[in-house]
Amino acid sequence: MAGNKKNCLVIGGAGFIGSHTVDALLKAGHTVSILDSLQTRVHPHGKPGYISDHAEFIQGDACSASDLLSALKGVDCVFHLAAYQDYLPDFSTFIHVNAESTALLYELIVEHHLAVEKVVVASSQAVYGEGCYTCESHADVYPDIRSEDQLMRGIWEPVCPSCEGEIDWRATDEETVNPKNQYAISKYAQEMIALTLGKRYRIPTVALRYSIVQGPRQSFYNAYSGACRIFCLSLYFDQVPILYEDGAQLRDYVNIHDVVAANLLVLSSPEVDYQVINVGGGKAYSVAEFVAIVADVYGKDSSPRIPGSYRFGDTRHIVSDISKLKGLGWSPTRTPKHSVTEYVEWLRAQQSVEDILEYVENHMKKLNVVRQVNG
Ligand SMILES: NC(=O)c1ccc[n+]([C@@H]2O[C@H](COP(=O)([O-])OP(=O)(O)OC[C@H]3O[C@@H](n4cnc5c(N)ncnc54)[C@H](O)[C@@H]3O)[C@@H](O)[C@H]2O)c1
Repeated sequence: MAGNKKNCLVIGGAGFIGSHTVDALLKAGHTVSILDSLQTRVHPHGKPGYISDHAEFIQGDACSASDLLSALKGVDCVFHLAAYQDYLPDFSTFIHVNAESTALLYELIVEHHLAVEKVVVASSQAVYGEGCYTCESHADVYPDIRSEDQLMRGIWEPVCPSCEGEIDWRATDEETVNPKNQYAISKYAQEMIALTLGKRYRIPTVALRYSIVQGPRQSFYNAYSGACRIFCLSLYFDQVPILYEDGAQLRDYVNIHDVVAANLLVLSSPEVDYQVINVGGGKAYSVAEFVAIVADVYGKDSSPRIPGSYRFGDTRHIVSDISKLKGLGWSPTRTPKHSVTEYVEWLRAQQSVEDILEYVENHMKKLNVVRQVNG
């Protein structure tokens, strides 16, 4: 396609980040098509109404060679934003959907000599596992996941892997890789496939490691879709929010519009081809601080309950270092309060909102993902 206007394919374009990316690409004058399987866990009621009529919608599976090949015809740029995300123990599904679909994408581009100019894949901060800490005696350290024994005793902070002493978290940069669960492993595999094959076959590629992304259109149904959905729904239904661990876990929540700006920025930044880049909020908030923001937006005085439960496999603190992306002129422009305000407005505009919180909590307990401290 001539000039700066491109034919863009957004795989997973019916989802949260995908649909906002579609809207921004259309607004920027690009031609957009969507390949999305409408995964039932994310879209139990079918195709969402927010999908723009100006984008061509193809219902299909990113893991199917025929679906993907037909969607790729005539495409200049690809955003791969489809994924299987959850805490559930069907390990092979993570690898199949997240990693295999990415390998298939490059396989088809190479085999059919497709003139794809750029691929952007969505990776995740999850690849950092417990992230980077400093120990007074051992400098930078990368703790392992916290043991079940430790968590059952309600001891939340990780310790130095060398001396078992106290350690302090620090923002984690792109050099670190320490995936510790099925989702993180699949995302790291996806990155490696994309960057390695991209470089080898000269298909300019960027992998973006998003922190926790927040804003409207986050699926109500996906247990992975995090703090914003859970706490906003709790207060929507006048329920007391439940915090896992002690609520002091730190995260750098990033707003969807800032993420979309990063997606579009790397599309036109050849200097970051074949690189991995963090996209984060730039500031650490504890989960308890985050729930206070949600309560403030609702205007409710709602203290959370801390029943002594935890999600096995959860990271204690993780905050991304965003210096690299800032070097391209990007920086976060919105706070978690903006994200929550927009999410709550969106929630209130929905025709019907099912109270699925109890179902999700019980399901995770049944699968032994949510556990209780002893005594
Ligand atoms: N939301 C976050 O906080 C976050 C954080 C880090 C990374 N990510 C990554 O960003 C990407 C987008 O996440 P999201 O939050 O928008 O997820 P989402 O679940 O809202 O959207 C994903 C979309 O992919 C589609 N999909 C799933 N499997 C598919 C398949 N096999 N073929 C075609 N389509 C399929 C789903 O139907 C859905 O519309 C994912 O790769 C995710 O791993 C998200």
